[in-house]
Order: sequence, then structure tokens, then C-alpha cells
Amino acid sequence: MSNITFTMIKPDAVANGHSGKIIDQILEAGFSIQAMKYLHLTPENAGKFYAVHSERPFFNDLVSFMTSGPIFAAVLVKENAVADFRTLIGATDPKKADEGTIRQRFADSIEANAVHGSDSDENAAIEASFFFNSFERF
Ligand code: RTP
Ligand code: MG
Repeated sequence: MSNITFTMIKPDAVANGHSGKIIDQILEAGFSIQAMKYLHLTPENAGKFYAVHSERPFFNDLVSFMTSGPIFAAVLVKENAVADFRTLIGATDPKKADEGTIRQRFADSIEANAVHGSDSDENAAIEASFFFNSFERF
């Protein structure tokens, strides 16, 4: 099992001034930050990142949302990182997210849901290398 996951603090959370509190909650939960950058996705980048959802009805809205403002992208390290981070962020729809999870605390809607978290070790590696080359991570 890999010990990394990939996250983004999405445009809604950055715009609402929640980045610091979200990073604090991530560190408090025992993750360390191996790499982080602040950037504004282009439509081409966002479309590639979410290519797995390209046939879904919400795809165009998702690309518009993810390019609506700057984000933080980061590689996080912890034992059991992928599963533990999904638990920390809560359900995709913040109305269904457990009390105290990042999405329950900071997200507005199923789309503007504050954070991304990788869903498998394989995708964590793909997503981390989408944003960071190996030199930037060490
Ligand atoms: P993420 O990939 O961002 O961590 O979110 P997730 O695994 O919890 O959810 P996923 O099914 O992968 O969906 C990716 C993102 O697309 C937006 N979404 N909108 N309008 C809708 O019904 C809808 N469903 C999903 C959300 O921003 C979701 O995080
Ligand atoms: Mg996902």
C-alpha cells in the first residue's frame, strides 16, 4: 500500500478564505505535506485532470468551477493516506458528510465541495505526477 495521496483545495474554499483552516485540519490529522503549489487551472488542465468524468452530465460545470479561481495542489504523506484522507474530507455531497469532516465544515454544495482527494493509490500517483515532477517532491 502506498503512503501518499493527492489533494486540491478547490476554488470555492480558497475564495472563501478557508485554505488556512483546511491545511491546519489536514496537519492535525497526521498528514505531512510533501509538495504544495498555488495555481490557477486552465480549462485544458482541468479537463485532463477530470477526464474520467468527461461523459458525465456535470463535466462542463465541473471544468468551469475548477477554473473559476486559484487552487492549492498538494501531495500528502501518511500511513493509509488515500483511505484516511477520504475519511477526513467526508462525502462528495457536504449535506451527507459526517460532522467535523472538511466538506461538512467548509463546503457549499456537491460541486463546490472545498477539497479533492484521490480515490486509489494508483490515481494518487497519477494525480501527483500530473502536478509535480519527482524533483519537486523531494
Ligand atoms: P473529488 O474527485 O473531487 O475528490 O470528489 P469525489 O471523488 O468525492 O467525487 P467524484 O465522483 O470523483 O466527482 C468529482 C467532482 O465532480 C463534482 N461533482 N458534481 N453536480 C454533480 O452532481 C456533481 N457530482 C460530482 C464535485 O466537485 C466532485 O468533487
Ligand atoms: Mg473523485
